[in-house]
Amino acid sequence: MKLLLTADLHFHIPWFEWLREVASEYDLVAIGGDLLDLENQQGMARQLIYLYEWVQRCVKRPVNLTICTGNHDFPSGAPLIYPGVPLPNGKLAILRQFASAQPWPQALKLNHQVAVDGDEKMFRFRSGENLAVTCCPYRADGYVEQLRPYALPWLVLHHEPPANSLIATPKNGSLAFAQAIRRSEPTWSLSGHVHFTVGDDNHFFERSGSTICFNCRQNPPGGLLPPEPNVIIVDSKRREATWRRWITHGSNEETTIEL
Ligand SMILES: [Fe+2]
Repeated sequence: MKLLLTADLHFHIPWFEWLREVASEYDLVAIGGDLLDLENQQGMARQLIYLYEWVQRCVKRPVNLTICTGNHDFPSGAPLIYPGVPLPNGKLAILRQFASAQPWPQALKLNHQVAVDGDEKMFRFRSGENLAVTCCPYRADGYVEQLRPYALPWLVLHHEPPANSLIATPKNGSLAFAQAIRRSEPTWSLSGHVHFTVGDDNHFFERSGSTICFNCRQNPPGGLLPPEPNVIIVDSKRREATWRRWITHGSNEETTIEL
């Protein structure tokens, strides 16, 4: 199976559009939180409408999509609208979908190809392979519900990387998630939250027991962003994972590890 892992898009629309273009080349696209951006002056309502329509366009193709939320994804109290930024016409029905979903990301489950916060789902790929996926919601207190162990292979999404890991450095990471991984040993985990920092050691994976934990170390928002997000491509047939990191607008580098 071939998986495309990324995170921290922070409502950078060219990255969403690129993902949609390439998604059908993969068995699954996984986004580890911070799809939206709290600071974005369009407000959350416009971002939610875009996200809903983006998922709508994704699922028109045979694309499997899995998403967990991060700290930027519509936390309570986030500004829904800004003065002088009108809502697009005729889109209130979409906001109604979000308002009646509990929690709101459930509104993005437009068909059986999508898994979001709180879901545990078995994806069956055309190759005949299966992948279990668990999407952990973001919680400011780091709380992680008991992970229900699945048959392997198994991917767990959790925005904050495990505590005291190379993929959390220079932040602390989530102690509860580190413990959950050690207890349940999924095949892979996907996080984000801790971006690429120039001049620091930037690790994109760490092994914990039999689990490989990933963080694509997204380029942080602001300034001139590259045309594509940083991603990790997991290829189980070749038994390798490749981190594609954009150094400048025009160049990227790839690092490959064995699975
Ligand atoms: Fe984050």
